[in-house]
Amino acid sequence: MFEFQSLLRENVSLINENLEKTFQGNLDTPEVILESMKYSLFAGGKRLRPMLMIETCRSLDGDVEVIMPLALAMEMIHTYSLIHDDLPAMDNDDFRRGKPTNHKVYGDATAILAGDGLLNYAMETMLEGAQGLSGELLDRYLTAMKIIMRASGISGMIGGQVADMLSENRVITINELNYVHLHKTGALLEASIHCGCIIANAEPATQGRLITYSNLIGLAFQIVDDILDIEGTESELGKPVGSDEKNHKSTFVSLYGLEASKIKVAELKSEALEILKPIGEKSEFLENLAEYICKRRK
Ligand code: IPE
Ligand code: IPE
Ligand code: MG
Ligand code: MG
Ligand code: MG
Repeated sequence: MFEFQSLLRENVSLINENLEKTFQGNLDTPEVILESMKYSLFAGGKRLRPMLMIETCRSLDGDVEVIMPLALAMEMIHTYSLIHDDLPAMDNDDFRRGKPTNHKVYGDATAILAGDGLLNYAMETMLEGAQGLSGELLDRYLTAMKIIMRASGISGMIGGQVADMLSENRVITINELNYVHLHKTGALLEASIHCGCIIANAEPATQGRLITYSNLIGLAFQIVDDILDIEGTESELGKPVGSDEKNHKSTFVSLYGLEASKIKVAELKSEALEILKPIGEKSEFLENLAEYICKRRK
């Protein structure tokens, strides 16, 4: 576990250094939009999605340099989704990553544009990474780009956010709830692991197992998020507690209660660990990560 903690820290530093690099050089833009984008991007996120992508790729002997722009883009897209999620028209929250939310500092209009800016910058970053690649590796890189754009679009995260909105103020079925979780949260986690497999050219059987794993931890991750929205503390989480109740959200906890939710998280974790077993030592990081996601306090 000690090694895993230092691996987490090393990854956060690697991702942050590379994110910083993408903003070097001359960008022809009003200073305020850059400031607002960087305010949220460098506010101290866990960097889980890019880390999953990089570590999946590394453990399957893929090239980390090739995947880096895709991992950075994933974090930019995730950050944009958080900026928009917090807006008054959505969850109307005042804290994120331990700081006032983007719109609280820069106003709604700039926060919306900062989200848009991050999405475009993600695309530009990925395309820049494609330059210089050729042949079969370029094909796989473009496949990975498509996976990212689909997972963050209407068939993925955006679809899930819409379904989340439509589930406010009513009791929904377990299928509807699974749809929300697997899309608003699961899609980017799945895409991260999927891209790691694609760039490393993983065998189909391994890829299938890792994608099933990503769906299991994707569900667990969101149920833990919903538990922490009740049992967490604002200082640990860096975001408000009670946001779901305030917005009359349907969550696993609102439908089944805290105890059943904790049992569900434990079941999902066991299934996730089980599915990794045949992969052996190459899945060590993902095993530790499943434990980390289920035990996390932030
Ligand atoms: C928060 O994601 C949004 C959800 C999908 C629940 P994270 O918990 O990964 O947030 P950061 O990136 O660490 O801030
Ligand atoms: C949002 O889910 C997931 C996103 C796509 C941003 P939540 O609304 O529960 O995320 P938090 O709790 O605000 O981070
Ligand atoms: Mg939300
Ligand atoms: Mg929210
Ligand atoms: Mg939440």
